[in-house]
Amino acid sequence: MKKLIFTIFGSTGDLTSRKLLPAISKLYKENKIPKETLVVCLGRKSFDDNRAYLKYMDDAASKKLDLDILKDIVIYHQMQITESNDYDTLKEMLEKHKDQDTKELYYLAVGPELFFDVSKNINQSGMVQKNNINQSIIFEKPFGHDLKSAKSINQRLWDFFDEKQIFRIDHYLGKEMIQNILMVRFANRIFEDIWYNRTIKNVKIIVKETEGILNRGGYYDQSGALKDMVQSHLLQMVSLVAMEVPLSYYSEDVKNEKVKVLDHITVDEKSLIFGQYHGYMHEEKVEENSDTETFVFLKAFVNTPRFKGVPFYLMTGKKLDKKESVIIIEFEETSEQRKWNLPLSTNKLFIKIAPEDGVGLRFNSKVPGLSDDVQEVELEYCAACEAFGNMSEAYEKLLLDATGQHKSLFTRWDEIELSWKLIDQIKKHQDKPVIYESFDALKVLIKEKMDVDMS
Ligand SMILES: NC(=O)c1ccc[n+]([C@@H]2O[C@H](COP(=O)([O-])OP(=O)(O)OC[C@H]3O[C@@H](n4cnc5c(N)ncnc54)[C@H](OP(=O)(O)O)[C@@H]3O)[C@@H](O)[C@H]2O)c1
Repeated sequence: MKKLIFTIFGSTGDLTSRKLLPAISKLYKENKIPKETLVVCLGRKSFDDNRAYLKYMDDAASKKLDLDILKDIVIYHQMQITESNDYDTLKEMLEKHKDQDTKELYYLAVGPELFFDVSKNINQSGMVQKNNINQSIIFEKPFGHDLKSAKSINQRLWDFFDEKQIFRIDHYLGKEMIQNILMVRFANRIFEDIWYNRTIKNVKIIVKETEGILNRGGYYDQSGALKDMVQSHLLQMVSLVAMEVPLSYYSEDVKNEKVKVLDHITVDEKSLIFGQYHGYMHEEKVEENSDTETFVFLKAFVNTPRFKGVPFYLMTGKKLDKKESVIIIEFEETSEQRKWNLPLSTNKLFIKIAPEDGVGLRFNSKVPGLSDDVQEVELEYCAACEAFGNMSEAYEKLLLDATGQHKSLFTRWDEIELSWKLIDQIKKHQDKPVIYESFDALKVLIKEKMDVDMS
């Protein structure tokens, strides 16, 4: 690939300022993408020139943008992305910059309500040819808001693009330790041999945030934690933890196994707990008396021979005690352990996704010295420490993979379809959320209801 053109729809938004522009400039700086890279940023706002656009984005970004790089590769182009006529000038401009070898990525950093119009306009303007795999289109989650809407979006996309051209992003899949789950599971004899219901007691998948909904009330109030987090990130983690060994590590084989997991999940509807943080109803653009949940807990089962009977406890929420994203695999006691009358703990494997990336293994060990007491100790691997502060962000990995047409870290349609099917079923049993002031109250509720410790 000699030339690369990223065309970003929704280029004045938060995603572009905080994630896409920083990721592109870092890939460029590290020579991971061609010297001849062009970033065409589309928006309806008016700016005097490219520099003024970048200044606006720099002010909006949480960290300073690398303007030295971006000023040479970014062009801002004002247009109405919902207006088909505006695509003629865009097409003309892009054609001036591209040749036969150019790889083109069209990134829809806009809400799903614009997916259809923008995809249709891209296709009907003749900018992208169906089946040309040098031209790809990238969508952000949420991909629909239930099974019906997701199916409808998808069916219409297939009218305009081939599945090979479509990249559906779940940025969690770009995170270092999520990518590492299969490596930890399948490249280590000690884990591969014990990854079964005979030895695994339960699995906890926890994503906690300390912040509220920030300024995303308009979107969040229509969505809630179940659709925003469980449908995508948490179910993706379940499928990576529970999948069988794939035929190969090529994208399609891995996805075939992940899909089988998603097709075998059942949820214990009696376990469901929905919560809403105190003060949520006073957030901007949230409806008065909103019943939208900002917290969800559930117990699920993966009914495959490997995992039958093992509870998967899924929990995610906002305004909780700390920011943490972790998978905890708890193992059964040994037969000797049951006999000894000592305060022994179960072994636990921690796959730490955020804020630290790494793996921890807790086991029992004698307290050093003359006593025979036992203590729980932890072996720890810190991926971020090994990277010496040069840990790549999820979006860098995902954008790089999209330029190379590597699809392992993107979600295939059947994964999305099955996860929405499950969410639609859960929704049927959704109660009014309990209002919580702190995580402590939720912990007590979960312990009382399900006898499980989620602290
Ligand atoms: N931000 C994140 O970290 C993040 C993470 C994962 C997924 N996402 C998803 O990515 C998408 C974009 O998120 P965001 O946070 O960047 O949203 P945002 O800050 O609200 O930005 C939305 C962008 O879409 C444009 N837009 C909105 N309505 C439009 C219309 N009718 N016609 C033309 N342009 C329109 C806006 O342009 P104007 O400036 O002209 O209004 C803006 O550039 C959403 O679907 C979001 O759920 C975001």
